[in-house]
Amino acid sequence: MEATASAAAASVFDHLEQAPEDPILGITVAYNKDPHPGKVNLGVGAYRTEEGKPLILNVVRRAEERLLADRSKNKEYLPITGLADFNKRSAMLILGSDSPAVVEKRLVTAQCLSGTGSLRVGAEFLARHYGVKLVFLPTPTWGNHFKVFMNAGLAVKTYRYYDNKTRGLDYEGMLEDIGAAPSGSVILLHACAHNPTGVDPTPQQWEGIRQAIRNRGHLPFFDSAYQGFASGSLDKDALAVRTFVADGGECFIAQSFAKNMGLYGERVGALSIVSKSSGVATRVESQLKLVIRPMYSNPPIHGASIVALVLGDGDLFSEWTVELKGMADRIISMRHKLYDALRARGTPGDWTHILKQIGMFSFTGLNKEQVQFMTREYRIYMTLDGRISMAGLSLKTVPLLADAIHAAVTGAKA
Ligand SMILES: Cc1ncc(COP(=O)(O)O)c(C=O)c1O
Repeated sequence: MEATASAAAASVFDHLEQAPEDPILGITVAYNKDPHPGKVNLGVGAYRTEEGKPLILNVVRRAEERLLADRSKNKEYLPITGLADFNKRSAMLILGSDSPAVVEKRLVTAQCLSGTGSLRVGAEFLARHYGVKLVFLPTPTWGNHFKVFMNAGLAVKTYRYYDNKTRGLDYEGMLEDIGAAPSGSVILLHACAHNPTGVDPTPQQWEGIRQAIRNRGHLPFFDSAYQGFASGSLDKDALAVRTFVADGGECFIAQSFAKNMGLYGERVGALSIVSKSSGVATRVESQLKLVIRPMYSNPPIHGASIVALVLGDGDLFSEWTVELKGMADRIISMRHKLYDALRARGTPGDWTHILKQIGMFSFTGLNKEQVQFMTREYRIYMTLDGRISMAGLSLKTVPLLADAIHAAVTGAKA
């Protein structure tokens, strides 16, 4: 009787409003609902083959076969900071094996839940243990950055990064804003392949940025979600991080293996905190464990075991670098195909930024109305800021995208 009465009563959650979809992941939701066979999803940053299919790298399959065959492996809990071998090799991948921080044992690395989880644990650690609770993000940046840092209890501000007029880096503006930020601020930097703009500083500019950050005693926090995806070279894409670590100063690095090893759903990443001495690093590690333990206790074992195997085996590692370069090269070739297709259509405007921009995305310069038109009339799904995932394009879909852009820019009907 009582159970029936309570079942008939209003839900304790009746007051909830329907929340909006995530601006990026919501695009896939809308795409999946569209029954049209010719639809194209350029919203989400996930690599697709020329056939438009997700790719499992051959080297990942080989590593998984080895793991499966190895009867000494088990599914026990990992330590709070994850798989030690994975941590060591991930740090060496981004810092270089001869990095002073590695040699002097001045860093701690914790396996976390991909790039997002690494950022979140880093943010949580800063909120608890760092004096300046203020983070500066580039304008624009990956939308989730705001929420990751704000949810940890840090205040978030922005620094100038992208110049709409030149479609390049607003280097002067960036240096000015870094110079004006309160001393000790956390400065979030995209290690390479800036998302969403595809605009990266040159090596000389990185050196200028390093000086500006160090002069003000700021704390750099690198987000490295695309190592190897920008240039096709793992070492080249680590240049910015290594420039900062070489000066002996402190920094945070969040690494993701989602894109470069195609392990999106496995959630494999690492947070490294570089300190000034091994003594501090040891204490940082002890406190980091206290941050992680009540959040998710310890990270999952499978994806990290794959990465540890690939990074630790010469044969698998070199196969990975070839496959990674293959993905980067296909993206670069899509840039050329799209550029050529727009030129062939005589689409008004200078589209050279499509060739110049780096990494998975192109920041087209199309506005919200143009994007909505392209989605409505051409079933091209992309973020409203005009960002397209070049990794989602293929020879088959380039002409449709070029037609859509041409129509959007010239105001032609589909
Ligand atoms: C700049 C940037 N940082 C972090 C991430 C996080 O990725 P994940 O949590 O899947 O590793 C992404 C993913 O799109 C990204 O673009």
